Amino acid sequence: MSEKIKLIQRESLKEKPDPSNLGFGEYFTDYMLSFDYDIDQGWHDLKIVPYGPIELSPAAQALHYGQAVFEGLKAYKHDGEVDLFRPSENFKRINNSLARLDMPKVDEDTLLEGLKQLVDIERDWVPEGEGQSLYIRPYVFATEGILGVRPSYSYKLLIILSPSGSYYGGDSLNPTKIYVEDEYVRAVRGGVGHAKVAGNYAASLLAQTNASAQGYDQVLWLDGVEQKYVEEVGSMNIFFVENGKVVTPELNGSILPGITRKTVIELAQNLGYEVEERRVSIDELIEAHHNGTLTEVFGTGTAAVISPVGQLKYGDTEIVINNNETGEVTQNLYDNYVGIQSGKLDDPNGWRVVVPRY
Ligand SMILES: Cc1ncc(COP(=O)(O)O)c(C=O)c1O
Repeated sequence: MSEKIKLIQRESLKEKPDPSNLGFGEYFTDYMLSFDYDIDQGWHDLKIVPYGPIELSPAAQALHYGQAVFEGLKAYKHDGEVDLFRPSENFKRINNSLARLDMPKVDEDTLLEGLKQLVDIERDWVPEGEGQSLYIRPYVFATEGILGVRPSYSYKLLIILSPSGSYYGGDSLNPTKIYVEDEYVRAVRGGVGHAKVAGNYAASLLAQTNASAQGYDQVLWLDGVEQKYVEEVGSMNIFFVENGKVVTPELNGSILPGITRKTVIELAQNLGYEVEERRVSIDELIEAHHNGTLTEVFGTGTAAVISPVGQLKYGDTEIVINNNETGEVTQNLYDNYVGIQSGKLDDPNGWRVVVPRY
């Protein structure tokens, strides 16, 4: 058994929220994991501390020049046990994001061990209802108080936990309406699109607000050079079922390599679907819709898992996918994915990672 991480106890535990009304990211548990970096000591002082406000220099570099990265994953409770889903993938990706912003990498095994001990302490906070989970948010930001534009000499890593409700409210999938953004772009090749950096989300908000005002749920981004090729949705990767094949844009440096995307590709192949990762233009999709070969569209991401798309609007063209209903392939992938995640189906690839009792 690994060494126990230092725990600073809080004086009293919080009252837990009503499990039937959790929403997303609204409530936080009693504790968080904290890890500090400075240039002399490297990463040090790993500890579990009460969730609460932190002290930060007003000149902290993250606030000015945006050295900030984050991750998102979930823990599930079933049969009295708590599992994480492919957590090592998130820690691999946080290191890729850190490297891109010239921030110091962190030992992935240390982080996983820290997360397991934190979730063990907080296991009573993991909700058990259909579709509910404990959302886990690891993040790192520059803390040095200096206004020079250079990499910070100090950083803080925190992991906070938030019990969250089902994305769909009930247990059926609801197709979403998507606005294809043809004015703003999210990322360009050579930029930071493949990294999960805070600034990418700041840059996406205006387009999302405009799309919401027109009654759309999410924005579908096109490539930043020609604005012709489909990239991804606000917080999801995108998939199409075309001529019976499962097609998704190839990772080109400006798309976030989603862990749900990777898992869905593996799952689809295991289920016998042909999967293509390639460039997909918006014109190809509209044409495929008109000739009847585009039968399904869905997004993939930690929050929504697999989310069917019922409508796509691009300029003056609006297309309705599969009669605004969840398609057969989408439903099959969803059932298998959620079945494995929730412990109802076998997990031949070892995606579930049990949180031990320390
Ligand atoms: C921009 C973007 N694309 C895709 C995804 C899906 O990634 P994942 O499946 O790892 O959650 C996310 C969510 O993390 C995202 O923010």
